[in-house]
Amino acid sequence: MKDILSAPFMREMCDMADNMYRLGWDERNGGNISYLLYDEDIAPYLSADKVIRRIPTGFSAPELVGKYFLVTGTGKYFKNVKGDPERNLGIIRIAEDACTAELLWGFSNGGRFTSELPAHLMSHTVRLRHNPKNRVIMHTHPTATLAMTHVTELTEKAFTRLIWGTCTECIVVFPDGIGVLPWMVCGTNEIGEATAKKMEDYRIVIWGMHGIYGAGVDFDEAFGLIETVEKGAQLYMMYSHLPIVNRITDEQLDEVAKAFHLEYRKDFLGQ
Ligand code: 13P
Ligand code: ZN
Repeated sequence: MKDILSAPFMREMCDMADNMYRLGWDERNGGNISYLLYDEDIAPYLSADKVIRRIPTGFSAPELVGKYFLVTGTGKYFKNVKGDPERNLGIIRIAEDACTAELLWGFSNGGRFTSELPAHLMSHTVRLRHNPKNRVIMHTHPTATLAMTHVTELTEKAFTRLIWGTCTECIVVFPDGIGVLPWMVCGTNEIGEATAKKMEDYRIVIWGMHGIYGAGVDFDEAFGLIETVEKGAQLYMMYSHLPIVNRITDEQLDEVAKAFHLEYRKDFLGQ
């Protein structure tokens, strides 16, 4: 067996957690990531029949039975992931009963998967139905995005239009818009179900006064969505209290969409 710490998926995960920490998005244990691994990814590194522990998830994920996920641990700090992946990360497989996680590697000091596993796995289920290649669900607390949820209307139309209006390429990156949830108690099946429902229509979901979720076929897509929202939110928080002289109009957004051949949420214009 090869050393799992040298696996490309492990390096990607470690680099991503480190990068997000350095951006200031993941204070203390804030944020969590889940990465769907294929059988062929793990085969050189792990024996699939050596289960270390069985951990009940508290919800059923029938469409994910037999699937492997590399996930961050609950209470673990993103800043520590790169230095000690085995303690801060785990590889789980969803068992036959659909509501048990079989731990195959990691969480070495008796830890367990993120408390946001419901939102992650329920979102994976929905995104995989839309795109069988989806692999990454990412949750983080980007500073400006979070600030913006305190001062703007928490609706998809209002939030998306404000972010699209901050810089020209936002509509190109997420023509499908931004899903928005009100404040809810985190770490529950309820917020997991609500997030997954939004993932039917959006690859990005904001949790009011908490943070953001991004979904993607790889880290670049999921991270790219979140960083673009955060860039827009930074701009918004910089200029929104100043006298506004120039705006990106609905007509200009439509022009960009036409130039890039985008199917976009036209119903989010006009306010
Ligand atoms: P975990 O430490 O359980 O992953 O929780 C962090 C978080 O951001 C909760 O929303
Ligand atoms: Zn959080």
